[in-house]
Amino acid sequence: MINIRTREEIELMRESGRLVAGALDLASELVGPGVETGALDREIEGYIRGNGATPEFKGYQGYPATICASVNEEVVHGIPGSRVLRNGDIVGIDVGVRKNGYVGDGARTFAVGGITEGTERLVRVTRETLDLAISIVREGVHLSDISHAIQQMAEDAGFSVVRELTGHGVGTELHEEPEIPNYGNPGLGPVLKAGMILAIEPMLNAGGPGVETLADNWTVVTADRHRSAHFEHTMAVTATGADILTQ
Ligand code: MF3
Ligand code: CO
Repeated sequence: MINIRTREEIELMRESGRLVAGALDLASELVGPGVETGALDREIEGYIRGNGATPEFKGYQGYPATICASVNEEVVHGIPGSRVLRNGDIVGIDVGVRKNGYVGDGARTFAVGGITEGTERLVRVTRETLDLAISIVREGVHLSDISHAIQQMAEDAGFSVVRELTGHGVGTELHEEPEIPNYGNPGLGPVLKAGMILAIEPMLNAGGPGVETLADNWTVVTADRHRSAHFEHTMAVTATGADILTQ
């Protein structure tokens, strides 16, 4: 069942989402050459708790940190720690915030210092697939129309789409129905209704679509070790479009 949230619930989710955006803004200020991913985690945890909220990922199925910090060939779920960011890296920061019982979920990929034109294009196209997905969301649209649009834009640009991980509904739980793949045929799946809350999160690879999980049981990397980028917004479906909650 896909939950339909009331206007009041959506306003509470907007509060959680605003903290997600604030945390990612803070990350954008902190990210740079020489910075430890563990330091980003500590700063962002302090920001979230300082705003009367809790980091939703910490303890989720045993996940040990507030953020995911995924560098270069790491797709998602990189565990922050002693790794030091270097000039030319990219780092995907993913953060979940719970406040008043409602969760917001969002991610952005940042350049560390100067990055190559090819890497810049991977990051930009990934952001653009999320923008495209958002532009399609509205009541009456089939869920897979979103999936299809992401895949088409990604592959037209010469990138590949990760199959093993998806976007998702979000609300009182981090992961609610529906699953939102970043690939597929159009015109299928549930029809969106106003009040549904979606976390759409395209993951694009510069090389092939294959991924594997490292021995830490969390970090997902590309099988060919080419780079990957990730962006995510939480949004409410409305009669006329998407109401982005994580901004
Ligand atoms: N945004 C990711 C997701 O929706 C982050 C989850 S990390 C976890 O799956 F630790 F919470 F699992
Ligand atoms: Co998510």
